[in-house]
Amino acid sequence: MSQSPIIVLPSLLSCDFARLADELAACAAAGASQVHVDVMDAHFVPNLTLGPLLVEAMRRSTDLVLDVHLMMTDPLRYAQSFRDAGADAITVHVEAVGPRAIDDAISQLRSTGAATGLAFNPDTDPCMWFDALAQVDQCMLMTVYPGFGGQAFIPAVRPRIRAVRERFPQLPIMVDGGIDRSTIPLVVADGATRLVCGSAYFKDPDPAALIRWAQAGEYGDV
Ligand code: DX5
Ligand code: ZN
Repeated sequence: MSQSPIIVLPSLLSCDFARLADELAACAAAGASQVHVDVMDAHFVPNLTLGPLLVEAMRRSTDLVLDVHLMMTDPLRYAQSFRDAGADAITVHVEAVGPRAIDDAISQLRSTGAATGLAFNPDTDPCMWFDALAQVDQCMLMTVYPGFGGQAFIPAVRPRIRAVRERFPQLPIMVDGGIDRSTIPLVVADGATRLVCGSAYFKDPDPAALIRWAQAGEYGDV
């Protein structure tokens, strides 16, 4: 078992944005310590969501950790703006940065003052990026192709979770996409510790119970 605690991050992509402040307050009341914020640029992924303006609005209405996931072609151009808006953690995709620019990108990301993360699409092998992962605060493995909430979990990512956990016993490993009551026991057994949960969280009639159950980590045999 890794030493990084299990944390459920409600993904605001599935919340009611007309009631954003209420949704953030409800996440805190349900026991969440962090929320996940999906930034999509209609280029890296075929969807368009939100920018620093909305992160700044979130920051004014909550003390929850804002975990910002940049699904953008040019994430470093905007990282400081998201940090200034109040992002606590910023994760960029290795596919957007590329292997030659990765070390510079990590230094730039770190210089924003945010906690840093690297994200990997389902077809990208994180084992090719271990030197980069050694320099960041979290690894995010996409368990769907990024762009939309409500997609089905891709089980082929599971060996990748195990490979990262084997190499980095203490690194927080985030999984994002299709995370629900049926997949949580599987990904936690593989070594994931940060569970992004969008549609399953916001559809759940008792999200506080979902968080308690998931974070307790006792699921019986899987
Ligand atoms: C998808 C986003 C996810 C999304 C997950 O590209 O990165 O964070 O909100 O949604 P669910 O949990 O519904 O798969
Ligand atoms: Zn995400």
